[in-house]
Amino acid sequence: MSELNIIKERIKEISENYKDDTIGGWITGDGPIPCNILFVGEAPGKTEVEEGKPFVGVAGKNFEYYLELIGLKREEIRITNTCYFRPIKIKKTANGKTSISNRTPKISEINLFKDILEKEINLVNPKIIITLGNIPLKNLTSFKSIGQCHGALIYNEKFKAHIFPMYHPSSLTYNRNDEFKKMYKEDWYKFKEALDTI
Ligand code: URA
Repeated sequence: MSELNIIKERIKEISENYKDDTIGGWITGDGPIPCNILFVGEAPGKTEVEEGKPFVGVAGKNFEYYLELIGLKREEIRITNTCYFRPIKIKKTANGKTSISNRTPKISEINLFKDILEKEINLVNPKIIITLGNIPLKNLTSFKSIGQCHGALIYNEKFKAHIFPMYHPSSLTYNRNDEFKKMYKEDWYKFKEALDTI
């Protein structure tokens, strides 16, 4: 079995045997292997599970807009997640219906996949890993918050690759002010510049 299939089988096995909380399906990473540029997100949502690919829902649309803005195509990058299953919460509403929504993955859930993400990183062998939001940042580095380090290029000995922390594209949905948008866009241009130096 190829290394990629081993990774896929492990994700399937962990997800299908997970009983500690509710989840709604799982996905693997997407894009070429090897690849110089690897983005790491948080966890898939509903659309991602339906389409079997990361970042194809609302956050994915924002993501692709900025990717294109700096002249990159999705086919040129690999993208994956820190938690490969979709963490969900199910609530009964007042009129007796059920509502399903995404929840942030717990540390214990992220830890289930820690060695798998590391295997994927080794297989992809990227020159640069872009962490999207706090979840992959805390998993892969010792930084405590994205506010401390976004837009900076940091060499990581363990992965023998640079890490470039960025806010998660869905942060644009709840930080609608112009100042945040400007800073977010500037981080994408800094990332473009970083690509020329690595
Ligand atoms: N947000 C993520 O962090 N990952 C996805 O795959 C989709 C949305």
